[in-house]
Amino acid sequence: MLIIASSNGAIGIDQAMQALKKGGSALDAVEIGIRLVEANPDEHSVGYNGYPNIIGELELDASIMDGRTLDSGAVALMRGFPYAISVARQVMARELPHVLLAGEGAERFAREIGAEHWGEMLTDEIMAVWRKRMTAVGATQWVARRPDDILVPADDAPLLDWVKLATDPERVEGTVNFIAIDGKGDIASGVSTSGWAWKYPGRIGDSPIIGAGNYADNRYGACACTGMGEMAIRAGTARSLVLYLKLGLSLGEAARRAMNDLRDLGGDFIGGMNLIALNPKGEHIGMSSRAGGSYIYQTEAMDACQERAREVVEIPARWGREARE
Ligand code: GLY
Repeated sequence: MLIIASSNGAIGIDQAMQALKKGGSALDAVEIGIRLVEANPDEHSVGYNGYPNIIGELELDASIMDGRTLDSGAVALMRGFPYAISVARQVMARELPHVLLAGEGAERFAREIGAEHWGEMLTDEIMAVWRKRMTAVGATQWVARRPDDILVPADDAPLLDWVKLATDPERVEGTVNFIAIDGKGDIASGVSTSGWAWKYPGRIGDSPIIGAGNYADNRYGACACTGMGEMAIRAGTARSLVLYLKLGLSLGEAARRAMNDLRDLGGDFIGGMNLIALNPKGEHIGMSSRAGGSYIYQTEAMDACQERAREVVEIPARWGREARE
């Protein structure tokens, strides 16, 4: 039994391992671990109290994948429900012939299955951070949002300009990854995020996109990503890594090749990227585009998780057309 996670998963990895030890499935462990991160008010890139989008609304994305069958479930742009990973799992588990539900449809589904609803998902502290950032970039066209009279950008406010000013490569990272191998050798992977701080409303990252931010296949292994999701979407990173394993590469070679694919991306917007991956033998690896990163892992023989350094494939950040000129 093995669980690997991004380092912000430390709050959940031990409970996830305890579930595996009691005979729980890899899917159970992934869900349990991620829920604890989603409920953590001090984690601002996942679940409750994450950084909101540019109009001060929290939109959550998550996905889960079952390596036995390649069944998957995902939600995107979901508001008001903290446990996006559990709703994603139900998209997969229920008699529903879909993989990904977004926005009002995801919220409707969450209501229909009785998912926990918290409504207000942001603390005053986070709203103050958001407001300060908006004021700093000259966002001035505010109107009162009923019924609470909180000031938010007007419908015709120039969000395109504000997003460009408010966002920088450091603010597009975050997200939690969990990958587990259970006592039967089955593999599952899960990802949950509140996405970029100050993103354009409706922006969806790699986390709910199967093949981009998340992929698991019992036969070859699994991969999950954090970082600038647009890059993982463009390179198909999680699926690519698992496909490289299928083609016979070692875990290290497959991970390096998936990172090289990201490094080779053109275009004007390149930020930081990280991934974790494992194979059915229980070998695992973490990669990052920057030095200093780590991930965590725990086996059934360990009382607590340990941290391991991520290997680096450097990807220089560039932000906007002017960065290339
Ligand atoms: N990797 C998370 C996101 O880009 O939303």
